[in-house]
Amino acid sequence: MEFPPSRTADNIGQIKAFENHPEKLKEILRNIPNRSHFVILTHLCWAWGFQVFNLLLFLKKIDRYMRILVTGSAGKLGKVTVQELRNSGYTVVGADILASDTTDLILDIQDFQSVLAFTKGFDAIIHTAALHGRHVDLQYSRQSFVDTNITGTLNLLNACIKNQIRRFLFTSTTSIYGNALADDHEAVWVTEQLIARPRDIYDITKQACEELCRDFFEKEGMMTSIYRVGRFLPESENITLNHRLYRGLDERDGAAGLRLGLEYDFSSFEIFNLSSGSPFHLEDLIDIKTNPLPVIAKYYPEAIAIYQENNWSFPASIDRVYRCDKATEILGYNPKYTFTYLLNELGQG
Ligand SMILES: NC(=O)c1ccc[n+]([C@@H]2O[C@H](COP(=O)([O-])OP(=O)(O)OC[C@H]3O[C@@H](n4cnc5c(N)ncnc54)[C@H](O)[C@@H]3O)[C@@H](O)[C@H]2O)c1
Repeated sequence: MEFPPSRTADNIGQIKAFENHPEKLKEILRNIPNRSHFVILTHLCWAWGFQVFNLLLFLKKIDRYMRILVTGSAGKLGKVTVQELRNSGYTVVGADILASDTTDLILDIQDFQSVLAFTKGFDAIIHTAALHGRHVDLQYSRQSFVDTNITGTLNLLNACIKNQIRRFLFTSTTSIYGNALADDHEAVWVTEQLIARPRDIYDITKQACEELCRDFFEKEGMMTSIYRVGRFLPESENITLNHRLYRGLDERDGAAGLRLGLEYDFSSFEIFNLSSGSPFHLEDLIDIKTNPLPVIAKYYPEAIAIYQENNWSFPASIDRVYRCDKATEILGYNPKYTFTYLLNELGQG
């Protein structure tokens, strides 16, 4: 059977008709001129490409059906993380020792048997529950930090192994840089490369948890990852706004960063800083330490009048700049609730 080179649509029709008769099909293909072969091949590539595309879409959709456990769901970050994930289509269970509208499960992470029983059937855990800086001020004992932060985290990691949960995201803190932030002459440029130098029991327990996560990544093949989040304590408008220039985090940006980490397939153990951004560059570090106002005015001239109207004070000295370039490059993290955002929101009254 011979097909003229121009009638490729007919050729394809013929081939489809002989799909279940491979011998006949081989004979037809032998008789088709080279150009038609090319067109048919292209057609098949398109068809297969389309199937692969559909499969990828399907897998992406399945991803969204991942069941996620968020610990600390009654807390500031845990609450918005539960909301962020639910809004993105995930099935989320919030766990905490305290009841709240985002807590589905009352769970004490210090109790291994409960942790083991209640973590069955999840695909990932986002762990935000902890005692933190405020509890240092409230004079919680070192033992209670070790029990909640280290034992609680280890219980969750061990339960992950037993219940075959591969993904574990740990919320650490930028406070872990501790004494590395002390510099009399210039502000410290804080990337993940800066060596952490814990200065209190909170930092010490967070560092131990980071290392536990690294150990489980390396020895147990778990996909653990670390998020050193900046400060989002409830503070005055003025302080929150000032912090948003160099060290603050809006917890909604933190939750978005955690979601991006959840969606990333890690082939190495990674640590990320998460803050709501900063306008400063390396060449500003000396000036912002000694006299930040002209530098702030250079980046945000509109801020001067808004601060005056609201009787706010600019920081007298800026000692650090938290950088999240790594999260931006690897995870696509792009904080929304920046200094500009907050200045406009608070400035409008
Ligand atoms: N708030 C900040 O400025 C800040 C800064 C850096 C890092 N972090 C880290 O971010 C995470 C969240 O901080 P947050 O401000 O939302 O804290 P938060 O105190 O508002 O919430 C923590 C939650 O953990 C829960 N929790 C404590 N012990 C528990 C236990 N044994 N079992 C189960 N749940 C328990 C608490 O009930 C609370 O709801 C923490 O890991 C913290 O170390 C916070």
